[in-house]
Amino acid sequence: MKIFELKKNLYNYIENLKNNKKTIGFIPTMGALHQGHMALVKASLNRDDITVVSIFINPTQFDNPEDLINYPKTFEQDLLLLKSLSDEIIVFYPNAKDFYDGKIESQQFDFDGLEHEMEGKFRQGHFNGVGTVVKKLFEAVRPDRAYFGEKDFQQLQIIKKLVEKEKMSIEIIPIPIYREEDGLAMSSRNRRLSVKHRMAAPYIYETLKQANRLFKHAEINEVKDFVKRRFQENSSLDLEYFEIADEKTLKPTKKKVEGNKYRGFIVVFAGEIRLIDNIALY
Ligand code: PAJ
Repeated sequence: MKIFELKKNLYNYIENLKNNKKTIGFIPTMGALHQGHMALVKASLNRDDITVVSIFINPTQFDNPEDLINYPKTFEQDLLLLKSLSDEIIVFYPNAKDFYDGKIESQQFDFDGLEHEMEGKFRQGHFNGVGTVVKKLFEAVRPDRAYFGEKDFQQLQIIKKLVEKEKMSIEIIPIPIYREEDGLAMSSRNRRLSVKHRMAAPYIYETLKQANRLFKHAEINEVKDFVKRRFQENSSLDLEYFEIADEKTLKPTKKKVEGNKYRGFIVVFAGEIRLIDNIALY
């Protein structure tokens, strides 16, 4: 398994692979890897000649300093997990100073309004940070395909927009949400849940599934009220937001329009831990 810490060394190594006509698949991550990340890695291993995984806790996308400090760091375990899939994976594990050329700050992006909805409202500067790091990662790795999870659906749509606006010829491949057996969406943050909150957390996906059943015949407002009530009845979990939005524009919807696709987007606090999930509504 090859591990690169310096951007320049990675760039040169990939340059050689590209000259030899190898296709490159790329999975950007912040580490604390779990089976959700592995689903993305497996998809690339099945399709690309070369698979590159980056592990980098990107400081510019954190609006909450506590969250950045407490973000789980499990590099040795991450390597073992990757090795269990393949010894050939290339790991990029940069430090912030080298990666950001000494200037750890965000570029400002215009993602045609996608960045102002939901997570954009609740996490100031988050998507400028994500856009900045992913653009730089793409410039270093120059992948043919990059894999993103639908768990962070807004991020996925924003990355598609980034590639379009920056005219990068990278195919963005969405991967469905990978869940624990009890329905909780896998997340690096789950390992910080207390026992009580871990036991309470499957309620989130349970609520999303019920919201989808209701969506088939009810109005948007009724579905939203239902979700709000469900969380008023639950003393372990605090709803930050639930929104029903158009999949493409991410604009909140008041009334269903035939032919459009909708999703329910949710963020819930389980104690200090912020959990995100979403579901296709049909
Ligand atoms: P991170 O949270 O580590 O996630 C890396 C990738 O794994 C993202 O595309 C995310 O959507 C996907 N992922 C996480 N949990 C998943 C699950 N349960 N099912 C399917 N996919 C899942 O997202 C980030 O890192 C960062 O913002 C990053 C893109 C790396 C930029 O710093």
